Amino acid sequence: MAPPSGNDAGQSGNALDNLLTESRTFPPSAEFAEQANATSDLAERASADREAFWAEQAGRLSWTSDWDQVLDWSAAPFAKWFVGGKLNVAYNCVDRHVDSGHGDQVAIHWEGEPGDSRAITYADLKDEVGKAANALASLGLTAGDRVAIYMPMIPEAIYSMLACARLGLTHSVVFAGFSAEALRSRIEDAEAKLVITTDGQFRRGKPAPLKTAVDEAVAQTPTIQNVLVVKRTDTDVEWTEGRDLWWHDVVDGQSTEHTPESFDSEHPLFILYTSGTTGKPKGILHTSGGYLTQAAYTHHYVFDHKAGEDVYWCTADIGWVTGHSYIVYGPLANRATQVVYEGTPNTPHEGRHWEIVQKYKVSIYYTAPTLIRTFMKWGADIPAKYDLSSLRVLGSVGEPINPEAWMWYREHVGGNRCPIVDTWWQTETGAIMIAPLPGVTACKPGSAMGPLPGIGAKVVDESGVAVGKGGGGYLVLDQPWPSMLRGIWGDEERFRDTYWSRFAEQGFYFAGDGAKYDSDGAVWLLGRVDDVMNVSGHRISTTEVESALVSHAKVAEAAVVGASDPTTGQGIVAFVILRGGATEGGDIAKELRDHVAKEIGPIAKPRQIMVVPELPKTRSGKIMRRLLRDVAENRQVGDVTTLADSTVMDLISSGLNRGS
Ligand code: WT7
Repeated sequence: MAPPSGNDAGQSGNALDNLLTESRTFPPSAEFAEQANATSDLAERASADREAFWAEQAGRLSWTSDWDQVLDWSAAPFAKWFVGGKLNVAYNCVDRHVDSGHGDQVAIHWEGEPGDSRAITYADLKDEVGKAANALASLGLTAGDRVAIYMPMIPEAIYSMLACARLGLTHSVVFAGFSAEALRSRIEDAEAKLVITTDGQFRRGKPAPLKTAVDEAVAQTPTIQNVLVVKRTDTDVEWTEGRDLWWHDVVDGQSTEHTPESFDSEHPLFILYTSGTTGKPKGILHTSGGYLTQAAYTHHYVFDHKAGEDVYWCTADIGWVTGHSYIVYGPLANRATQVVYEGTPNTPHEGRHWEIVQKYKVSIYYTAPTLIRTFMKWGADIPAKYDLSSLRVLGSVGEPINPEAWMWYREHVGGNRCPIVDTWWQTETGAIMIAPLPGVTACKPGSAMGPLPGIGAKVVDESGVAVGKGGGGYLVLDQPWPSMLRGIWGDEERFRDTYWSRFAEQGFYFAGDGAKYDSDGAVWLLGRVDDVMNVSGHRISTTEVESALVSHAKVAEAAVVGASDPTTGQGIVAFVILRGGATEGGDIAKELRDHVAKEIGPIAKPRQIMVVPELPKTRSGKIMRRLLRDVAENRQVGDVTTLADSTVMDLISSGLNRGS
């Protein structure tokens, strides 16, 4: 594993140097601090008695049976939280708000891409989830079965997730931008019995088919019994009688009454696939009580959320963990009123997000650095045309936010008055782990600041020893946390290997990120230290793209690196050797990019493909990506002494110079 230096982490050396000389701080205003959910005693209380602190947080939920033990870590690294407790996750996110007299409160202001909209109250949500739960039960699904959800951002996607939770079915949401092949492998791994999808989805103003990909995927997945299809775009679909069912036929006529059953705190809630360092995505498993506790706790404090007052908007897609924890589970557990938007940020114009903020008086806005940098590119005059005065808290997630983007966000979106919370976490952590507390923490542009109360995180060196202020190394989590992953679906060994073997002696969870403390002890994330890229906040493994490339008939070998990119954080750059030693011919780059889109999905398309005669390898045959990254980022090529053939880099560089 490469040491976390600037070059090996996600950002270039220069950007890192800038980060660490960043000295601006923005303390909370007195008015904000006065009304904030978070108070400065929170951290003290958490460290005085961590388990008592988490037990108190679990009190945010309604349990039908109390737990007898807060944490059982005796089978580490497999944790059990709130052992013996029982609850229904969907009841906690829906029914209890109706029961407490808030049925008329809007849960979801849904905004479709073509401009259609729906206001869904908590009472409506209860009816819709009840009907969907009755429908899924009528299809013969029972607790523990897996359901794949492959849908755009429409209310039925959220009803589907909650209906699964209500019945104890484990959902596996697959991002609707992924390919048929990606869907197929995820259905196969989880042995799902049902796929819920739509006829098509609106993308940049146009309907695009979606069910076709499901047809292709399920042709090869015998575990699938039914395909449930929501009509969204009125796109023609092929129909397999007996297998395919329309949502409006199966769900609409159901009773809205459905009595929720209680499930064990450790009952599997969902599987979500994410890229690792090998070609095969990992099915990250999350369970119920601990997950919902931490999702609700973090949503309450990190966003300073006030039920019944705030209008919250997280711009993520439910295909990613951010959509699970900060659109569905955290906000709904906390009785949020939120905006859910179906489409892209520039459809039909580049002010769409600000128009939505203005329309619904959004007060909390949570997005990703890549989008903030895109807004910067589009120009500050666009947000300036809208009334953004309702905003009071801004959030960022997915990758390190560069200080320039942070300052732009603060000024042009936040009107220099909103605290910005940079939130570090992962699919595996289930919920936010490192972030400032608005109202308490003085924020620095570009820093996630420090672990939340109740969370143990630190930066350690190669041998697992904590580094001091000003020091850098690996980010580890040294205490179990309620929303931690409970494993990788069907692969215990890979779970231990991936996260717990690097610092096995100390029992630390290794996150895969490099990090530094500045001279005040604030944490600065430096990007991944493994072969995982971060493109627009999406995790993609180099090996996954390499396998897609070599599956093309014309490719003999491929090496992929993440090169720093001003908008997307990292861009995918591929070096390929063509079969028979062919050099460039025809539109090979386009052909290969399209092939990767078909194998994985458009998000994995390489930004650039370079045809090369050789790849730099060590004597043991390992590709030295560090050198290729130098080429991709137009830097002087670094130390080549460990290469089996030290002339290879000259060959690559001269070939490229000739070619371009
Ligand atoms: C990886 C996790 C958590 C939801 C979105 C991504 C990077 C995430 C930050 C941040 C620096 C960040 C890390 C992490 N990351 N948030 N605020 N600052 N880096 O979830 O796909 O599981 O990716 O995203 O590298 O390991 P994910």
